[in-house]
Amino acid sequence: MKIAVSGKGGVGKTTFSGTLARVLAKESGTVLAIDADPDANLGSAIGFSQEAVDKVKPVATMMELIEERTGAKKGEYGGMFSLTPKVDDIPEIYAITHENVRLLILGTIQQGGSGCFCPESALLKNLINHLFIRQQDTLIVDMEAGIEHLTRGSTAYVDMFIITVEPGQRSIQTAFHIKSLANELGVKEIYVVGNKINSDADKELIESVIGDEMKILGYISYNPKIIEADMKGVAPYDIDEKVRAEVSAINEKIKAL
Ligand SMILES: Nc1ncnc2c1ncn2[C@@H]1O[C@H](COP(=O)(O)OP(=O)(O)OP(=O)(O)O)[C@@H](O)[C@H]1O
Ligand SMILES: [Mg+2]
Repeated sequence: MKIAVSGKGGVGKTTFSGTLARVLAKESGTVLAIDADPDANLGSAIGFSQEAVDKVKPVATMMELIEERTGAKKGEYGGMFSLTPKVDDIPEIYAITHENVRLLILGTIQQGGSGCFCPESALLKNLINHLFIRQQDTLIVDMEAGIEHLTRGSTAYVDMFIITVEPGQRSIQTAFHIKSLANELGVKEIYVVGNKINSDADKELIESVIGDEMKILGYISYNPKIIEADMKGVAPYDIDEKVRAEVSAINEKIKAL
């Protein structure tokens, strides 16, 4: 099962991705979680300590690795470099593990001009393609609202493309924008998870705006425990039964599809 999670800034992509990773790991053994958001914080949502996360170097910053694998220097434009660098050993070497969740942090691609055609981008794109296409693991990718890490090649292997929204027009409009980008990349089925839900009216709002355009997988309540977990730097999964139950219900829905 390969799941990509996207959505507007702050809607709860990381909270949902981290909690779902823990639910899946409990259920089915090893899960590979990929932090593809430049502002990486999936680790703490999974339950890694800050110390553990601080020791991880994002793949995009591994100059030597990028040089070695692509034959070019990081940030170098116009030079020759391989578009198909070797990537298959990267998860083994660089991922850290907690409660059966392996975490790989991709880091930020510095965008040069219109779109990035640079060695680190080649490495990350190949890595993501590889992870989607070849790896057998259950995979969850916490993405940013932009989905430029994805290519037409990799999206064919995404089983679930999930957009997180909150009750409000802005995040839902972003969801439609992401949907059209994803459709252009050949993703057909796009699903929605509603987060920060306070009432049935919140659900109805989301349902009425989304309509038949996307399927809604479920909801996560607005939950002060999630904020508390964030403040303490611990996983919501570890301190709150309710969010565990809600995300487990979403997982059941995914499995039933
Ligand atoms: N259901 C919820 N109830 C209350 N607070 C929540 C809920 N979900 C997320 N939050 C809080 O909202 C903030 C943003 O959540 P999160 O980091 O998961 O969002 P994100 O979409 O990954 O954000 P970013 O775009 O910055 O990566 C955090 O402070 C988090 O604790
Ligand atoms: Mg996030």
